[in-house]
Formats: sequence, structure tokens, C-alpha cells
Amino acid sequence: MPIGEEEFKRSMGAWPSGVTIVTSRSGDDVHGMTVSDFTGASLSPPLAVILCHRESITTGMIAEGKCFGVNILAASQQELSNRFASKKLEHVRFEGLDYEMAETGAPLIRGAIANLDCSLHATHEAGDHLIYVGLIEAVRFHEGDPLVYWNASYRALEAKADGSGP
Ligand SMILES: Cc1cc2nc3c(=O)[nH]c(=O)nc-3n(C[C@H](O)[C@H](O)[C@H](O)COP(=O)(O)O)c2cc1C
Repeated sequence: MPIGEEEFKRSMGAWPSGVTIVTSRSGDDVHGMTVSDFTGASLSPPLAVILCHRESITTGMIAEGKCFGVNILAASQQELSNRFASKKLEHVRFEGLDYEMAETGAPLIRGAIANLDCSLHATHEAGDHLIYVGLIEAVRFHEGDPLVYWNASYRALEAKADGSGP
């Protein structure tokens, strides 16, 4: 017997993550949504993975446009994270937004600490979500601290004095 919804949400909420806005384009239409289910998948070839709810508009646009941009948000971009997650603001998400179109056609948001321009490489099923695998065609970086999400709220990174890696 698998776990229920509450236990699922609590388990996933225990995992801290960064926050991205995943964007795509199909014809003249652009769209995007806030996504925390993102990770690097392969070094050679360079692949990134995102998980998108089957019913999200962005999910359909990625399938049509065969490309997506992953914009890793800076700590200062919390308002953008809320805007791109809100259904009420669905039609104004790109209003006044500073972005440019990448090679693949995906919109890349300025001020994000990293922008990944991906062409759609593969799609896999995962229950009510789809796993999109993107071939990373280009990247761009910008100085800044990341926006962090944990336990259903935003956090800030705190540097440790002895925090060097292995
Ligand atoms: C912090 C945060 C992380 C989210 N991560 C994801 C995610 O990884 N995948 C997903 O499908 N939706 C995720 N969502 C929900 C979508 O952003 C939200 O449902 C959005 O309104 C979908 O937009 P669309 O239907 O216009 O594409 C997240 C929301 C928030 C606030």
C-alpha cells in the first residue's frame, strides 16, 4: 500500500531545493511556470531534467516547441517565483519582464543566477507528471545568491565558516 498525499507532501517538503522558472515557446506564444523539480542528469552528453505536471500549460508548450529554458532564480527574484506559480497571474507573467530569446527559442530571464537553454531530448512518464530531459545547448551565469525553497517557504542560504566541500 503506497503512502498518502499528506505523507508525500511532507517527505518532499523536507528536501530543500533551488527555484527555477521554466519557459518555452511555440510559434509566437511564450509561457513559463515556477519549477523546483530540476536537476542535472548527465555530463556527457550534458542533460538536465525537469518534472512538469501533465496539466500545466507550460508542459504542453514544451511538447509543442521542443525546447525549454531553465532560469535559476536569484534570492531577489521571489516575486517572480510567485508570479509564475500563480494561476491568477497566468496571463501577465511576462508583463514588464526583462528577458531575451535563446537559440532554441526559449525565453531566458535576465537577473537569474544561471540560464540553461535546452532542446527537448526525451520525455518519460511519471504518474501525473512528465519527466522532460533537455540537451543543454548553452548556459549563461550571473552573480548572486540563489532563492531556496524548503518546507513550503522561501529561505536564504547561510554560509558556514568551515563550509568547504570534500
Ligand atoms: C516553489 C514552487 C515550485 C514548483 N515546482 C513545480 C514543479 O517542479 N513542477 C510543476 O509541474 N509545478 C511546480 N510548481 C507549480 C507550478 O508553478 C504552478 O502549478 C503553475 O501555475 C503552472 O503554470 P501553467 O499551468 O501556466 O504552466 C511549483 C510551484 C512553486 C511555488
